[in-house]
Amino acid sequence: MKESSLRCCVVGAGYVGLVTGSCLARYHNVTLVESDDAKLKTLRRKRIPFHEPGLSELLQESSVQNHLSFTNSLSEALHKNPHVIFICVGTPSLADGNADLSAVYSVAQNIGTHVQNDCLVVNKSTVPIGTAQRVLDIICNQTNHNVTVASNPEFLRQGTAVTDFLNPDRIVVGVDSESSKTLLFQIYQPFLQNHEQWIVMDIASAELCKYAANAMLASRISFMNELARLADVVGADINQISRGIGKDPRIGSLFLKAGIGYGGSCFPKDVKALAYMGKQNNLTMPLTRAIDDVNNTQLDWFFSKLLHHYQGSLRNKHIGIWGLSFKPDTDDTRSSSAINLIEKCLEYGAHVIAYDPIVSMHVKHLDITLAPHAHEVLHSSHCLVVLTEWQEFLTIKPQEFLALKDQIIFDGRNCLNSARLAECGLRYHGIAHSVSRQPIQKGSQEN
Ligand code: UDX
Ligand code: UDX
Repeated sequence: MKESSLRCCVVGAGYVGLVTGSCLARYHNVTLVESDDAKLKTLRRKRIPFHEPGLSELLQESSVQNHLSFTNSLSEALHKNPHVIFICVGTPSLADGNADLSAVYSVAQNIGTHVQNDCLVVNKSTVPIGTAQRVLDIICNQTNHNVTVASNPEFLRQGTAVTDFLNPDRIVVGVDSESSKTLLFQIYQPFLQNHEQWIVMDIASAELCKYAANAMLASRISFMNELARLADVVGADINQISRGIGKDPRIGSLFLKAGIGYGGSCFPKDVKALAYMGKQNNLTMPLTRAIDDVNNTQLDWFFSKLLHHYQGSLRNKHIGIWGLSFKPDTDDTRSSSAINLIEKCLEYGAHVIAYDPIVSMHVKHLDITLAPHAHEVLHSSHCLVVLTEWQEFLTIKPQEFLALKDQIIFDGRNCLNSARLAECGLRYHGIAHSVSRQPIQKGSQEN
């Protein structure tokens, strides 16, 4: 591994910043700035404050340890004269759908006050078009150093973020000068396998690129969810439809899984922010708004199946839940459809017994019982609702589900083996996916 003389400062040690900083530290000198003291303490002990596969191992690597330091003081980090400063703070949704940029602007203000050298500031946080210019204006109001700003959206997926960073399918940079482009290329060169992965564009296009990627993926999910509602009524199986269309190379098989709606820290907020950007520019963006609308109603559609089964009331019912995170391999419950569904169950008078292989801390505000393992849920509940498709759930034998008092399963991810469950005499409701479909009846259609 070659020693690099490049110095990077990464502001924000959340899911994106900590992965970015740790991966960059394989090749460059990195100072990670984190304002949360509890997180900082954990990081200084070389532990990570959330679950992300491979990140802990990366932090233990000696080359990373030698090149990575942590501080809560941006001014201290800027005294090291970094060549590049990455802004990786959160940009959550405001009530009207716009992105909350207060943390980004506050970091920009701080950079302007404390910067000691000419340098490049890179927005990695997902930000609306025009934010790079605003960040530059804020910084340049405070300093005479020659600071430039670039956009470098990240496409990391939680659960595979380290692999995604180390083996990127592409790196998108938005720049307005040759020097910014050259510096970013030096930073990313060790991660590039070929030239096609290196995509350079203007800043506005790079900013919009991130929203385009997330909204495109979210649109596929919402389309499949909408189609699932139709498939459910007409007796078609959404899993088969997904297989049938996914083999078309023009369509591709990924992100075609119908379920209980997309969650997480990105899709919900970025689709809303994209629609908001349209509105600000006098465009109605009906397609983008529809992606969000379908997502907002998918959970109600699924919940109505459960409610219908229990004739409109969950009072005195023990509802067993498997999965709390917004997807497997993460402990993140931000905008998790699982949490929203649990809140609905509680509203309708249910007792909720939940199990998740990793999440336990973030749900303390909910009046639910957390089970120590998946089997406990089966033994204590009337029915089971599967909300996150953790691998562990797929290994549980069908006979074990017979412990459920009402012997019925609602699978919000179509992840269990419905045929084998049915063989054991269990009732199974998936997302437009059930065990046997009606054979076509002769003469059943009137002409
Ligand atoms: C990132 C963002 O960059 C967001 O725009 C993108 O859409 C998704 O990924 P994420 O890493 O998930 O957000 O955010 P979060 O986990 O909230 O981490 C942000 C970190 O920055 C927190 O640890 C917070 O304490 C820290 N922070 C915030 C600072 O250190 N300084 C600040 O001024 C503000
Ligand atoms: C997403 C993007 O994939 C990533 O490129 C970007 O940088 C951040 O946002 P992430 O939020 O980690 O990543 O999760 P992702 O795997 O995209 O899943 C998002 C949500 O969509 C999850 O709730 C997941 O369950 C759901 N989903 C995904 C489906 O419902 N069906 C699918 O077919 C795929």
